Amino acid sequence: MIDKNFFEGNDPQKLAQCYGTPLYLYNERVFRTRCREMKNLVTYSNFSVNFSVKANSNLSLLKIAHEEGLHADAMSPGEIFVEEKAGYQPDEIFYISNNVSLEEMRFAVERGIVVSIDSLSQLRFFGEHFPGAKVSLRINSGVGAGHSDKVVTGGKKTKFAIAVDQLDEARAIVQKTGVRLIGINQHIGSFFLAGEIYLEGVTALLKIAKTFPDLEFIDCGGGFGMPYDEKTQHRLDLSGLGAALDEVFFRFAEEYGKQVQFKIEPGRYLTAECGALLGTVWAVKENAGHLYCGTDIGFNVLIRPLLYDAYHEIETLPHRPEATVHPYTVVGNICESGDILAKDRLLPDMKENDLVLVHDAGAYCFSMSSNYNNRLRPAEVLIREDGTVRLIRRRDTLEDLIRNFE
Ligand code: LLP
Repeated sequence: MIDKNFFEGNDPQKLAQCYGTPLYLYNERVFRTRCREMKNLVTYSNFSVNFSVKANSNLSLLKIAHEEGLHADAMSPGEIFVEEKAGYQPDEIFYISNNVSLEEMRFAVERGIVVSIDSLSQLRFFGEHFPGAKVSLRINSGVGAGHSDKVVTGGKKTKFAIAVDQLDEARAIVQKTGVRLIGINQHIGSFFLAGEIYLEGVTALLKIAKTFPDLEFIDCGGGFGMPYDEKTQHRLDLSGLGAALDEVFFRFAEEYGKQVQFKIEPGRYLTAECGALLGTVWAVKENAGHLYCGTDIGFNVLIRPLLYDAYHEIETLPHRPEATVHPYTVVGNICESGDILAKDRLLPDMKENDLVLVHDAGAYCFSMSSNYNNRLRPAEVLIREDGTVRLIRRRDTLEDLIRNFE
């Protein structure tokens, strides 16, 4: 859902002229608000919010999240590298590894970053090479959720985590190799709008946590959704979920006899709504009775609709409230027929040089963009709270396309 003052007084047409399109825009006020909502989710004090930066790893956003007191999770040495550049300290980074090499494990261990291990196979490997190192086990408590099968990471059909029936063996490997098990973590999947499924996952994880006596932290994962489609989706009841989590956390701490640290790992919730994507309409055409609105937003720029059939609200600029609406298929400039941003979307009469504004484009949008068709990845700008606009990533150049060739 886009904030009504998203542009903070700026004229989108002027921004398009100044920076070109496609252009990712981020609103700092909205981002800070989401960071604070997550920081204040519970009153339980030993609580940390790890920004899951795969959703958006722009350095400027990472710095803002750090200013807001967030920590970060990382899925790769590249994410660790950028987090360090943004000022996160090793004890503020959690490396959630999945099928990684010895070098990648070493990259984290040498920096003093705790590694989450997600298979018995990798636990043996890690233990052999880093006896004494701190480790967390990623556990599949059996609960999964997500907006698409592709993003469900708990339950029966997933490559992730250690299954409950493998935990005894995991304990034996920990014992044998001498690694220091200090945490357990899970992530049930990405996108839920009803807190019940998250609570179910947390409850299942805490039941398992009780069987591990010396934990320093329990990471409950991310997945918190937000409404992409205001007509069919509602906001997640954060205060209800927060109150329920509080109850569960306090009760656990009492029974466990220790104020263990609880972590969560939101990505989408923090960044989706602070972002929007501005594109230009370059062609309008009809084929076999279907109207096509041809833009510069190819799936190299925004792949979510193609990959997950994801819905993003599309606003057209300038606004023409009186114009007749027609069903347009909004497409990009990539040479594949699947290059579709939205199918049969009711939009006012579209003309060349109109702008389209794709809402909620701050999570998994730029971070999943590519140079397919040798197209240039877009620029990103930050709209500050005082209305000033700052370029926070320049557009790729043609030179960038050949930089790595020998
Ligand atoms: N923690 C772990 C271990 C994860 O794998 C993820 C996301 C998160 C936290 C953050 O989840 P979030 O709070 O953002 O839902 N590309 C997909 C989403 C993939 C999510 C991958 N893992 C999309 O565009 O919808």
